[in-house]
Amino acid sequence: MRDLVDGSEGGRDGLLAIVERALELRAGARPQRFEGARLAAVFLDPSLRTRTSLEAACAALGVHPISLAPGSSSWALELEDGAVMDRDKPEHVKDAVSTLSAYVDVLAVRAFAGLKDAEEDRRDPVLSAFIRHSSVPVLNLESALWHPMQGYADAATLRSRFGDLTGVPLTLTWAPHPRALPAAVPNQVALTASLLGMDVTVAHPPGFDLDPEIVARTGVKVTHDQDAALRSARVVVAKSWSGFAGYGRREDEARVRAGLSAWQVRELPAGTGFMHCLPVRRNVVVADSVIDGPDSWVRETAALRLWTAMAVLERVLGASRV
Ligand code: CP
Repeated sequence: MRDLVDGSEGGRDGLLAIVERALELRAGARPQRFEGARLAAVFLDPSLRTRTSLEAACAALGVHPISLAPGSSSWALELEDGAVMDRDKPEHVKDAVSTLSAYVDVLAVRAFAGLKDAEEDRRDPVLSAFIRHSSVPVLNLESALWHPMQGYADAATLRSRFGDLTGVPLTLTWAPHPRALPAAVPNQVALTASLLGMDVTVAHPPGFDLDPEIVARTGVKVTHDQDAALRSARVVVAKSWSGFAGYGRREDEARVRAGLSAWQVRELPAGTGFMHCLPVRRNVVVADSVIDGPDSWVRETAALRLWTAMAVLERVLGASRV
């Protein structure tokens, strides 16, 4: 694996190798050390968990992390190829990435979907530009399409809870939210859980479809019957996302979304695990009683972000030093 795009790079075995190593590290295994290695993480969008877990994982492995926020702690980046740069963006992404990759061993980037043009988001333009212009491995810290670092932590949680995941029923449910959100996390849940052999159902209101290419690739089942999908699952993952067909008509979607508060996860059958990537809008997406209840695995997953980040860095830095 040179670049981490969606966590499927090594197939099911590659995914499980990261997960098993993360669980070993959580259980007290000694991390590999990469003294003198450097990682630069570029955040074009905010983060609490991803940034902190990555920097903490670097510290545990002897790697020096450098986090940059273009537009505040570094120059705002022009992303368009061939742009006439006479406006507010002083540096082109190709110059920034080639420069950074001369200084560090690994580059990482977070850049969410623009949610304006579906075909552009499908190209994952910022992550693709980083991969194109970097001379060192690139880690995706959540792009327009995927969030593999979250996917590894989800997978580690599921593996630690169920062991063999083959055929375990997982429901990914759409949830209400005051804003239109990208689909990187639900795409990742669908891909990761399918790769693990789980029986995945996606429940969403009409009009809030995931990208049909991703539905076809992952083979997930789709339903508009949330009640049935929650009742039949052993684990429920909640997330809001903007409908694939809603690109370019957000005001229409906002009107529809405002009438969908009944999709909040208010109750689950006893023993059904609950997961959410965080941050979460409490009592909009999910009731306090569910997320704070005995079957909530949300904090375990968030904590696993540290151990999975360490396992990913071991893999990437170990491979680049062979
Ligand atoms: N789940 C997640 O990626 O959290 P942050 O956006 O805070 O990094």
